[in-house]
Amino acid sequence: MKPELIREIAPLRAAIARRRPGASPIGLVPTMGALHAGHGRLIELARRDCGTVVVSIFVNPIQFNQAEDFKHYPRTLEADLDFCARLGVDLVFAPAEGEMYPAPPLAFVNVERLTDHLCGRFRPGHFRGVATVVMKLFMIVQPDRAYFGQKDAQQLAVVRRMVADLNVPVEIVAVPTVREADGLALSSRNLRLGDQERQAAAVLYQGLEAARQAAAGGLRSASRLKQIAREVFATRSEVRIEYLEIVDGEMQPIETVSEGALIAVAAWVGATRLIDNMPLEP
Ligand code: PAJ
Repeated sequence: MKPELIREIAPLRAAIARRRPGASPIGLVPTMGALHAGHGRLIELARRDCGTVVVSIFVNPIQFNQAEDFKHYPRTLEADLDFCARLGVDLVFAPAEGEMYPAPPLAFVNVERLTDHLCGRFRPGHFRGVATVVMKLFMIVQPDRAYFGQKDAQQLAVVRRMVADLNVPVEIVAVPTVREADGLALSSRNLRLGDQERQAAAVLYQGLEAARQAAAGGLRSASRLKQIAREVFATRSEVRIEYLEIVDGEMQPIETVSEGALIAVAAWVGATRLIDNMPLEP
């Protein structure tokens, strides 16, 4: 059965209120659409654990720091609705921009420190936009659980910290990264890669995986682990690294691998920016 498509906040709240007593818990999967098997995994887990599954589809203008990127972000609502239908989603919330931002917003959620490095450093304002829209979605849907992918590790850390610091009554569920057969992390932006770029993009996974294996073998030096990853990246000239960092759970760069450490990369493959990361077990 097709999920109910709701475009406005008031009817969404009413639909959830009708379902809440019998069909709890309420699970929310926030997305920007162009849904793929990565989103699919989040939805499947929500479906398994929740009485009501809400998927939001909203390309959030305030988290884009380049107008071009926002303009060209893939928008595939009809296919997304079929995708949600196959996974048994109950409600799809796909608001217009004017519904979420009837006036340019003046109130924002800022999560400090966790956003100083990695993507936060290269995309000013990005995480302020993410935290703000996620908080708005939490206030609109009031979910019991919300599902986020580890592929966006810094985003996950920011959302977790926002929820902890502001006492938001929602349980955050983290979902491991879903990958293509060659290791490339699924992303809506992969659609923009040409054939050769698509092949080259697999070195991101290969480099991170080489570092992870070296760390599993006992190598603790972050600079040597990064060197191992860099040598793999360098085998494809199409790939230009924006950052490569090893960070702790608060997304701070570290010199020596410790528990909770993560290796994270952002790279341009042609005109497309991709990110990936991997936990490094101590
Ligand atoms: P979007 O990029 O559409 O991703 C929605 C959710 O799917 C995020 O939690 C993301 O981490 C997860 N996801 C994407 N690719 C994945 C993969 N390969 N494996 C596992 N999970 C994956 O992230 C956003 O949208 C936005 O910033 C949002 C949170 C919706 C706020 O606007």
